[in-house]
Amino acid sequence: MADSVSIYDKTFVPFIKKDAIASRVKEIASAINTAYKDKNPLFLGILNGSFIFAADLFRGLSIDAEISFIKLASYKGTSTTGHVVTAIGLEESLKGRHIIIIEDIIDTGKTLSAFLPEIYNRQPASVAIAVFLTKPGALKYDVKADYTAFEIEDKFVVGYGLDYDGYGRNLPDLYQLA
Ligand code: XMP
Ligand code: MG
Repeated sequence: MADSVSIYDKTFVPFIKKDAIASRVKEIASAINTAYKDKNPLFLGILNGSFIFAADLFRGLSIDAEISFIKLASYKGTSTTGHVVTAIGLEESLKGRHIIIIEDIIDTGKTLSAFLPEIYNRQPASVAIAVFLTKPGALKYDVKADYTAFEIEDKFVVGYGLDYDGYGRNLPDLYQLA
């Protein structure tokens, strides 16, 4: 693990090592293996940030499961619908399915709280959220993850799929703003 990483004007220092990440992700995968046995869950990975977490989590599964990836598009709705976040690339029917949303990080919770109604509108049997990181100190919206790899303080992080302006996603370990 590098002592520090520079991206543009910022310096990031080592935070969570890849081995610690791997063992937490395995623990979450085994919890899901138990909870979703015979439920054939459909994972929805939210791009771009979740692709590495999703790949590792999914390979930890021993149950039957499907995975698909979506992008979120955000726009301002009417005065009653407020902030709307809709899925791009969601072709599967969610009706009657057990859905597990995979996200890289819940920061304020704004994105997921605006997106969840879109999922519930499609009449799934159940919806759970698996997230790599949460920042409890930054949470402003009513979103609760069912599976969280790490709760971290409210500082910007990169690596393991997370980026600073597009860079740093390839770092195998997680780094925190110095
Ligand atoms: P909300 O506030 O909607 O934000 O929960 C979620 C999105 O904010 C981005 N985000 C980060 N990205 N390092 C990152 O690389 C961070 O520390 C960080 N905090 C928030 C991210 O895009 C996430 O999906
Ligand atoms: Mg993201």
